[in-house]
Amino acid sequence: MPRLVSPSLLAADFLHLEKEIEMINKSQADWLHLDIMDGVFVPNISYGIPVLESIKPLLKKPMDVHLMIVDPDRYVEVFRKAGAEILTVHYEACPHLHRTIQHIKDNGMKAGVSLNPHTPVSLLKNIINDVDMVLLMSVNPGFGGQKFIENTYNKVIELRKMIEQQGASTIIQIDGGVDSTNAKALYDAGADCLVAGSAVFRSKDPLLAIEGLKNA
Ligand code: DX5
Ligand code: ZN
Repeated sequence: MPRLVSPSLLAADFLHLEKEIEMINKSQADWLHLDIMDGVFVPNISYGIPVLESIKPLLKKPMDVHLMIVDPDRYVEVFRKAGAEILTVHYEACPHLHRTIQHIKDNGMKAGVSLNPHTPVSLLKNIINDVDMVLLMSVNPGFGGQKFIENTYNKVIELRKMIEQQGASTIIQIDGGVDSTNAKALYDAGADCLVAGSAVFRSKDPLLAIEGLKNA
């Protein structure tokens, strides 16, 4: 099972983005997690396409883009052009999820589906084989720096079981409140990829923080 780390740029120093990207390039990070919020699906607005386009030529790691927006289908091509390698949409924002997943894959990206903390894992049983990654939100989406929701462990275990039962190769990603205190337990429960914003970019030594998560 892979052990991946995807630092979330949301907690970075936006005045010095070039330095932050150089740190990510030097680090053991596998991907860079980019949170796109529209102020409608979530009660916050983050950054958008021009920021991704500016980062892309400098970044040496795949862009892991987490869309917290309504009607994500409208923006699949736009995010592919901006440089996304992995594109994750929210289950709660997609009435035609199967079509959206195919749309993402047809554009040459890996397709992810994210579940809010209250959304049951069991809702994915008829689509799990089509999905490259499931992102389990371990906080309510919209903000960095929130407290990890403990019920996430139950969801990881249930999802891991579903993936194994169906012989799928879906990656399990965890996002929200991840740090050195829960990273090992999350990997042990069956997670493959940890997203961390504050625990990386707000730490005194981000390189060491990434290494710590990777080798938790
Ligand atoms: C929250 C975002 C997360 C956020 C995580 O809506 O999806 O990716 O940046 O931040 P931390 O790690 O600080 O909880
Ligand atoms: Zn995210």
